[in-house]
Amino acid sequence: MTERTAEFVRVAAADDIPPGTGKAVVVDGRRIALFNVNGTFYAIDDTCTHEEASLAEGALYGEIVACPKHGSRFHLPTGRVLSLPAVIPVNTYQVKVEDGHVLLLPVPQRGRGMPHKA
Ligand code: FES
Repeated sequence: MTERTAEFVRVAAADDIPPGTGKAVVVDGRRIALFNVNGTFYAIDDTCTHEEASLAEGALYGEIVACPKHGSRFHLPTGRVLSLPAVIPVNTYQVKVEDGHVLLLPVPQRGRGMPHKA
């Protein structure tokens, strides 16, 4: 029996995601949104849990992204939903930067916390 261990994969050049912006990438068939918050990178599912808008296109407010379609806010470190109409958290992913590249571990971590509570 073989065991498959997930490894970090290179998903973007860090320079392609300036501070205060996001970018959608596809890893193992999943759409994942990367964000640069003042040099710290975060990754969450790109698809909003309300009506499937791309969260990478949402406005960033520190560690919070607002869905571009109806404005639900998600907390990037935990995936928690902070405001309606979405009520289901998004998955998060581990990311790191090495040699100017953003590396992502394609193992979803279930979004934490009850909706609407910071
Ligand atoms: S699609 Fe994101 S809040 Fe509706």
